Amino acid sequence: MQGVFITIEGVEGSGKSTQLLRLSERLRRLGHPLTVSKEPGGTFLGRELRRLLLERHASGETWCPDAELLLFYADRAQHLEKVIRPALAEGKIVLVDRFEDSTRAYQGASGVAESALDRLSDLVLKGLRPQLTVLLDMDPEVSLQRVEVRNLSLGAEFAETRFDEAELDFHRRVRNRFLVIAKNHPNRVALIPARDPVAQVEATIWARVAPLLRSAGFGVD
Ligand SMILES: Nc1ncnc2c1ncn2[C@@H]1O[C@H](COP(=O)(O)OP(=O)(O)O)[C@@H](O)[C@H]1O
Ligand SMILES: [Mg+2]
Repeated sequence: MQGVFITIEGVEGSGKSTQLLRLSERLRRLGHPLTVSKEPGGTFLGRELRRLLLERHASGETWCPDAELLLFYADRAQHLEKVIRPALAEGKIVLVDRFEDSTRAYQGASGVAESALDRLSDLVLKGLRPQLTVLLDMDPEVSLQRVEVRNLSLGAEFAETRFDEAELDFHRRVRNRFLVIAKNHPNRVALIPARDPVAQVEATIWARVAPLLRSAGFGVD
């Protein structure tokens, strides 16, 4: 039996982690074999890359866009090889928090050429695509307010985090790139309004996930 590969995408604060947890709890209750992971950082070595990619370096040096892109794809190649492909081969349901569409949306918004993304994607994915991508869509102005609240609850160290107008503009461009991806891949991408209450978003996601799982031979009730 072949597994089912589902990714969840969206701007920061759109509720990816919240919904992935709820979906994974539901699938566990149903007794399905499950692998839950994320990018970057779905492997031991990938977690080192995640730190290098997401934490500010003490020197103040930042990655140039090409280097950053290659690190994201290094993380993805390792993740596919060590986690995703083996789990699918075992017939598991694989849920991943951010995948290729995030690279296309964020690195694309940072100015990386579409052709570079296509070439790396061919090299690393070798034709593998998620059967379903849940795209949580909402205005970043609202989702980033959620992130500020989330960070506040994490303690004083992060309490000063505020998104300025330039950052907001970047996140708007990221959102628009996600929407273009959804438009170009209507069969793969489920566009889900993410401003609704958590339980309602969960139900909307399940309405898209359940038929896919049923068709792949997994019980859904
Ligand atoms: N539908 C929702 N309505 C209101 N708040 C939400 C909703 N979904 C998530 N949140 C809250 O917003 C914050 C960001 O959610 P999170 O799941 O961490 O987003 P992401 O993983 O996409 O960055 C968290 O504090 C979370 O509890
Ligand atoms: Mg998250």
